[in-house]
Amino acid sequence: MTEQLEATRAALVENAEFALTARDLAVIAGIIRQEAGISLSGAKANLVYSRLAKRVRKLELNSFAEYCAMVESDDGKQERGEMIAALTTNVTRFFREPHHFEHLRERVLPGLVAQARAGGRVRLWSAACSSGQEPYSIALTLLSVMPDAPRHDVKILATDIDPNVLATGEAGIYDAAALEPVPVALRKAWFSPLNDGTGCLRANDELRQLVSFRKLNLIGSWPMRGKFQAIFCRNVVIYFDANTQEAVWSRMTPLLEDNGALYIGHSERVSGPAEALLANDGITTYRKRRSGDKK
Ligand SMILES: C[S@@+](CC[C@H](N)C(=O)[O-])C[C@H]1O[C@@H](n2cnc3c(N)ncnc32)[C@H](O)[C@@H]1O
Repeated sequence: MTEQLEATRAALVENAEFALTARDLAVIAGIIRQEAGISLSGAKANLVYSRLAKRVRKLELNSFAEYCAMVESDDGKQERGEMIAALTTNVTRFFREPHHFEHLRERVLPGLVAQARAGGRVRLWSAACSSGQEPYSIALTLLSVMPDAPRHDVKILATDIDPNVLATGEAGIYDAAALEPVPVALRKAWFSPLNDGTGCLRANDELRQLVSFRKLNLIGSWPMRGKFQAIFCRNVVIYFDANTQEAVWSRMTPLLEDNGALYIGHSERVSGPAEALLANDGITTYRKRRSGDKK
């Protein structure tokens, strides 16, 4: 065996139940890049191990090499989905980065509320919504200024690649700790205790009906045709490489209405050709320039 081959077969995680080699890591990184756009560097061996060892165990396999053979095979589609779900980071919380919701309430919603009450269509998008805290925070912000929103043509589209988090969002059930950032008045108005001994609360029907959860891969095809007045795309492109980030912004910006708002994560920035179409409007907040507006 050559030295190079030996190196790719050496276990990367010491004293582990299952051997994970550089070759296995390269296979896993290749699949997650191709299918989800997520860029994993070699330094992520411990993360990959801790997130996927339970899959190897559940499938009663003996090593990551066997797991890779499974996800690489033609029959491995379902497990590739499980792998992506296990490797995505779903951290989120209600009213995360609160300045975005203040901007939405103060600078964007007044015009949209008037538009909706006059019979207009209002569409907001939470792209990479995780388990629903972000789209429900958008909905709660809307309800705080427009409690009658459910009776108008107002919808929040909530999308993610991971069906598990979408199911949690759709159920709309959260424990009291998760709901702590939600102002008490909004919590009381729009959530009800489950009274099943778990201490959990459920989003009321009217709140849940404002949000439509759908599976959507940001590097796949996007079926929607209509435009949005605001898009939240936060804390997801950070996992993509620079070219993929640029491509997402280039596809997303045409889906924003003129003067529509784009909110991105605290450590992200819009890059590439989309930059010229957007104007800064606060911390990690952009507005789409109206055609004809000067830069
Ligand atoms: C860290 S969470 C961010 C959740 C929320 N936007 C926030 O800021 O709190 C990242 C989410 O992006 C999703 N994700 C990762 N890659 C994706 C892709 N290619 N397409 C759609 N969603 C993706 C993950 O499943 C995860 O739920």
